[in-house]
Amino acid sequence: MRPPKPLEWHKDDLLVVVDRPRFGLKDPDYRDYIVERCLGLRPGMVVVDVGCGSAASSLTFVPYVLPGGRLVGCDRDPEVLQIAERHAAEQSLSDYVEFRVGEAERIPSEDDEADVIYCQTLLMHVPDAAKVLAEMIRVVKPGGLVAAMEPDFSAAGIALVNGEPRPPERAALWAHTMTLIHKGAIERGAGDWTIGSRVGLIMRELGLKQIRVRQTPGSFTIVPSTKAPSNREALDWAMELFYPPEGSDLFRLQRDNYLAGGGTKEGWQEFADMRALETEHIMGDHEGSRSIVQTHIPGFLSMGRLPE
Ligand SMILES: C[S@@+](CC[C@H](N)C(=O)[O-])C[C@H]1O[C@@H](n2cnc3c(N)ncnc32)[C@H](O)[C@@H]1O
Repeated sequence: MRPPKPLEWHKDDLLVVVDRPRFGLKDPDYRDYIVERCLGLRPGMVVVDVGCGSAASSLTFVPYVLPGGRLVGCDRDPEVLQIAERHAAEQSLSDYVEFRVGEAERIPSEDDEADVIYCQTLLMHVPDAAKVLAEMIRVVKPGGLVAAMEPDFSAAGIALVNGEPRPPERAALWAHTMTLIHKGAIERGAGDWTIGSRVGLIMRELGLKQIRVRQTPGSFTIVPSTKAPSNREALDWAMELFYPPEGSDLFRLQRDNYLAGGGTKEGWQEFADMRALETEHIMGDHEGSRSIVQTHIPGFLSMGRLPE
C-alpha cells in the first residue's frame, strides 16, 4: 500500500482533546455537570476519595465544598500521596485537604465520615470490587452518596483515522487476546478492566438506592498538526495504554493475565509482534501528519445513595 499523503486538517470539524483525558474533569462546564449535578457537592460537605493517587481529579472538587467542607484522600501508596500534598499546596488548598495512607478494603476513615465518597479508576485494579464498595458504604453517612468513575475496556479501542486499515484477521487477534487478558485478570484477582459498566448493578445488590449511571467521555482524538506539548502527552498516554512497550509493568501484567486466561506463549508472541508492527505504523503515520489517532474508552460514573 502506498503511504497516504500528508493531510490538511480541518480542525474545527474534529473533537480535539489535546490533553490527557481525565474523564472530562478538566473542562470547567463538564466538571460543573459532574460535580454539582451528579455528585451534588455543596459547601460544607466532606468528600472522601478512595485510591486518590495524586488527587489530580479530586482536588478539582475542593472549591465546590468551600467554605466549610474538605477533601480526604486515601491511597495505599505513600509516594503518590506526597505528590497529592504537593499539588494541593501548589493550588493553595492544603488547609482543606487531608491525605491518609490506607487500603481501600479498610478505608482509614471513621464510620459516617463522608457526605460523598468517590473513587476513580480504583475498582478496576482491586480483586473484589464489591468488598471495596461495601467499605465505601461504611464510611458514607446515611443519605450520602457513593460514586465510582470506572471504565469498561471490553469495548475500548484505538484507531488510526486515514492510516492503514487494520485487516480483519488482526482485528480478530486483538479482540481475542483482550478477552483472554480480561478473563485471566478476573480469575487470578488482578483487577477487572471491564468493571465500569457493572458497578451500578453491584451498588444495587449492596442495598444502595437511587442508582444512576452516566456514561462519561472516553473518546479523544489526537491531531498531529497540533504542536501543543499536551498533544504529545496525550499520544504517549494512548500508546502506553494500548501499546505498552515490552518490559513495561502493563506489558507484563497483560501477558500474565493472558496466560492465566488460557492463552499460549505462541499466541502472546503473535500478539506482541502485531502490536510492535502497529506501533511503528501509528508513530510513523502520525508523526508524518498523515493520520489522526483516535481512542475510545467507555467510562461510567455510577452513583447510589445510602438510605437515611
Ligand atoms: C489508576 S490510579 C487512579 C488514581 C486516581 N483515582 C485518579 O483517577 O487519578 C489507582 C490508584 O489506586 C491505588 N490503589 C490500588 N489498589 C488499592 C487498594 N487496594 N487500596 C488503596 N489504594 C489502591 C493505587 O495506589 C493508585 O494510586
